[in-house]
Amino acid sequence: MLDAQTAPAAPHVTRREDYAPPVWLVPTIDLVFDLDPARTSVSATMQVELKEGAGGPLRLDGGGGLRPLTVAVDGQPAEWRMEGDQLVLDLAGRAHEVAIAVEIAPEANTQLMGLYASGGLLCTQCEAEGFRRIMFFPDRPDVLSRYTVRMTADKARFPVLLANGDHVGGGDLDDGRHWAQWRDPFPKPCYLFALVAGDLACRADQFITRSGRTVALGIYTAQSDLPKTEHAMAALKASMAWDEQVYGREYDLAVFNIVAVGDFNFGAMENKGLNIFNSRYILADPDTATDADYDAVAGVVAHEYFHNWSGNRVTCRDWFQLSLKEGFTVFRDQQFSADQGSHAVKRIEDVRALRAAQFPEDAGPLAHPIRPESYLEIGNFYTATVYNKGAEVIRMLHTLLGAERFRKGTDLYFTRHDGTATTCDAFVDAMEDASGEDLSRFRLWYSQAGTPRVKASLVHETGGGRARLTLEQSVPATPGQRDKQPMVLPLRLALFSAETGKRLAAQMVVMQDAREEIVFEGVSERPILSINRDFSAPVIVETDRSPADLAFLSAHDDDPFARYEAVQQLMLDTLVAGAARGEADHRPVIAAVRDTLADAHLDPAFVAETMLIPTESFVGDQMLVVDPEAIRRTRDALRRDLGRELLEQWRAIYAANHSNRFEYNPTAKGMRRLKTIALGFLAVGGAEDAAALAFGQFNDADNMTDRQGALGVLANGTAPERETALAAFYDRYRGDSLVLDKWFTTQALSMRADTPEQVERLARHPDFTLTNPNRLRSLVGAFTANQYAFHDPSGRGYRFLADMVLAADRLNPQTAAKLIPPLGRWRRLEPTRAALMKAELERMLATPGLSKDVFEQVSKSLA
Ligand code: PHE
Ligand code: ZN
Repeated sequence: MLDAQTAPAAPHVTRREDYAPPVWLVPTIDLVFDLDPARTSVSATMQVELKEGAGGPLRLDGGGGLRPLTVAVDGQPAEWRMEGDQLVLDLAGRAHEVAIAVEIAPEANTQLMGLYASGGLLCTQCEAEGFRRIMFFPDRPDVLSRYTVRMTADKARFPVLLANGDHVGGGDLDDGRHWAQWRDPFPKPCYLFALVAGDLACRADQFITRSGRTVALGIYTAQSDLPKTEHAMAALKASMAWDEQVYGREYDLAVFNIVAVGDFNFGAMENKGLNIFNSRYILADPDTATDADYDAVAGVVAHEYFHNWSGNRVTCRDWFQLSLKEGFTVFRDQQFSADQGSHAVKRIEDVRALRAAQFPEDAGPLAHPIRPESYLEIGNFYTATVYNKGAEVIRMLHTLLGAERFRKGTDLYFTRHDGTATTCDAFVDAMEDASGEDLSRFRLWYSQAGTPRVKASLVHETGGGRARLTLEQSVPATPGQRDKQPMVLPLRLALFSAETGKRLAAQMVVMQDAREEIVFEGVSERPILSINRDFSAPVIVETDRSPADLAFLSAHDDDPFARYEAVQQLMLDTLVAGAARGEADHRPVIAAVRDTLADAHLDPAFVAETMLIPTESFVGDQMLVVDPEAIRRTRDALRRDLGRELLEQWRAIYAANHSNRFEYNPTAKGMRRLKTIALGFLAVGGAEDAAALAFGQFNDADNMTDRQGALGVLANGTAPERETALAAFYDRYRGDSLVLDKWFTTQALSMRADTPEQVERLARHPDFTLTNPNRLRSLVGAFTANQYAFHDPSGRGYRFLADMVLAADRLNPQTAAKLIPPLGRWRRLEPTRAALMKAELERMLATPGLSKDVFEQVSKSLA
């Protein structure tokens, strides 16, 4: 028995094809917690029932060293055994009551999975497999139970006791302790279980559903943070109304609570009726949160709320179906955010995020389909592919079927599967049945990894007044998937007359084959191709459009995304050429930027997006061999020329968008964005007063967007104002950990040559810690996103990352493993850097006691 538990487990691969339904069901569970940070006792009483026609022992998952103190079956002490981490019971009948008691130590839990302590409060995180660290249980999403939870705790330290569902009782006990009981009427998988105990203040509000029920809303934080919850509360109410209007989904309990915690592995968690959030996605006020933070708060609040239907009422059969809830819910939160502001700007932001995080994943050793086939550690599959590409796949269904038929499909999906755990296939089935459309080929999006490439070439036959568009698609090989089939690609396209700028044609082509030809008749003027408008398919498009054609589209396309894309493509082509050849003609980019800046009809937020030069990493993604120095050099040269050539325009833009009173609305946000971009161009363009302007903006700012923006501009340079501003920022915000994260990030993202050594120094700063995931990511995660600094030719960046991962792995494997992917790109670097990167991966792999989280990411990165 002991041996089975202590023997080093060979990493177990879980495969989708091995799915088998549960043998035992657990219709109800009563949990009793005697809460204490050092020693919490937990006991569970579960009704267990053998599924019809099934047989075999009851296997309950455990983990993190969990040991049963007592085990009883139908009120009698029972025989049990451990097989690995599982508690196994041979039961005589088909239905029993099983009671188990355990003890856990929340304050010793550094993994932040299960029950843990954060800033004086106790909270849980159970997705994906954290519940097994609290109680022995069939920890799989297709076992749904009704929960009752009773908590007792010291009343002074933990005056607030929360769990899922409705509060059904409570009161005082002896010894300064008190108790509370909660009951959740909706059966749920254990990954949605939650409790919180702490000294928390509450912003209370209410929402009246469309059928007239009143829902009590609460956002819980430390008393001092309460003023920062106004924005989150407004977003919650807007989300509740939006889901009723757009999806016909009404909230189903009388209570909806949110708790913000400072230590959290991900963004937030959709526990039924009790969402638990990383505080960075709840707290916002003008002095401490940027506009991007405000948007992220609203987006994540909406995301978690929307999970109440897409995730909780209908959940996943197994973790391979993760994108069923995540892809769909990301799509829903994207739609919500678009409806709150500008559709065009939101689409640009989402595509930028996809290209920054998901395209590289799809092109590297960790590529996997949105519905993976196997895993060692499911925590490694909460990826940009499952989330963001998953959302693009749902968006394509919306595009192919149209809003009305898509809504019929979601209605059918929710009705058919309410209260059950289901699959991605079932979702597509509902879309098929509701629309009458055959989606069999479309399902390839769930099984094939890799970003499809589409080559488009347009030939104008002047004689026949005809334009011939040839489209060719290919899907690259990815690990375990050599040969791919052509995918279904909805491609919105249009033709514009090069002479008049008039739109000659517009249509959506649903590409299904490897090669297709589309003929446009009656085209007498030379046509220019606009393709993948609104980014209708998550693909890479290659065209033979000239810089002049792209400049034309940047001024004339009537699809804002395509217009943005034309400028970006022009910049990208220029940068790729510059990196390859050492120089490039900057004039077409300068002209396009000048024209865009001069167009008074454009929304400032849109202009700001368009002015952003593609990142160094994105330029690197376009190259066979990434040359970080050549990319930096050529990108610097383009920035400098844009700054210099348009110096007066940037000055004018800066002045026109500079207002001193903070307002939060799309126009004001766009103006702030544009202003700081202009400031950056003034700085690189050599404006003598740039540092003084930046320092003025830093000091006078009445909001964090302006202040951090100015700090970022200063942090890239050598002006004496840099150190003054960094020190002032630190002094002002040293007590606010979310803002201090920005201080670390700004320095880690600096374009200065000494960034690697500054980052090493910051890792020794007293405010740096490996135990808080936000802080770890603010320095290490940001540094690895800084391509030039991370790829310092000495290899010190790689060594630093490996050291950090190894140190963090001992505390928090899930968060440590998330930092590894940048090293996995080694095959794309020149041989010297590639060897240094590989050596660090090998060093990690050879380290004894690696978690399976880190082991999986490292071994796959080397394969
Ligand atoms: N389910 C959460 C979400 O996307 C993410 C999450 C996963 C949070 C695992 C914590 C742990 O909304
Ligand atoms: Zn989610």
